[in-house]
Amino acid sequence: MTRMRAKRNIPARMERCKERWFDEPMLNKGHWRQACGFAEDVPVWLEIGCGKGKFCTEMAAAHPEVLYIAMERDASVTLAAVEKAHEMELPNLFFIRGDAGLIENYFDEDEIDRIYLNFSDPWTRQNKPKRRLTYRAFLDKYKVMMKKGSSVCFKTDNDELFDFSLGEFEECGFALTEVTRDLHNSEYEKDNIRTEFEQKFADQGIPIKRVVAVMQ
Ligand SMILES: C[S@@+](CC[C@H](N)C(=O)[O-])C[C@H]1O[C@@H](n2cnc3c(N)ncnc32)[C@H](O)[C@@H]1O
Repeated sequence: MTRMRAKRNIPARMERCKERWFDEPMLNKGHWRQACGFAEDVPVWLEIGCGKGKFCTEMAAAHPEVLYIAMERDASVTLAAVEKAHEMELPNLFFIRGDAGLIENYFDEDEIDRIYLNFSDPWTRQNKPKRRLTYRAFLDKYKVMMKKGSSVCFKTDNDELFDFSLGEFEECGFALTEVTRDLHNSEYEKDNIRTEFEQKFADQGIPIKRVVAVMQ
């Protein structure tokens, strides 16, 4: 999978879309709905590692009733997603340029109604499981931010990461639902929105794994 070439003029281009993202997202901790101009009962969905923004823009367009926050740590990739959202004029999609390792600085207890992790870096070659976004230390952080009964929706092409993640979800007390090792040929495909990486893997004939892990 080729890496994206670094974009030029990132600060100036981010500035042009400044109503789409937050320079100091930690200031919104505990009041994201208010900060984004939404009512207190609006569900908040968070995507971590959103890439160039295909999934988050399509999800936000399909779910105008939801406040969708997308987080990405790479500056060029964030810019691509922010510009896409800006072009589409989506009123319910906002971005954080930041690292999931610091997520507890951005969200308060019970603030999130759903989390999406799509094709997170597998860290298999370097054998660094602690860096995986489904490692138990991350899941424990997510649990604090998530409402009871809410879920983490996880998709990957990678069998090793998938098996690891199922174990970590169970270890952290999540119930595994809607588990499939071939999403595109399953009953869940009809509501599925494909991400950039998902489409590339599907084009190569690689089956997509998916689980919805529900917090008990
Ligand atoms: C393999 S790409 C998948 C992109 C997109 N979700 C998709 O499915 O097309 C993983 C993305 O997650 C981002 N990422 C990885 N670790 C992250 C972290 N700790 N915090 C925020 N973003 C992260 C990477 O920069 C990259 O854009």
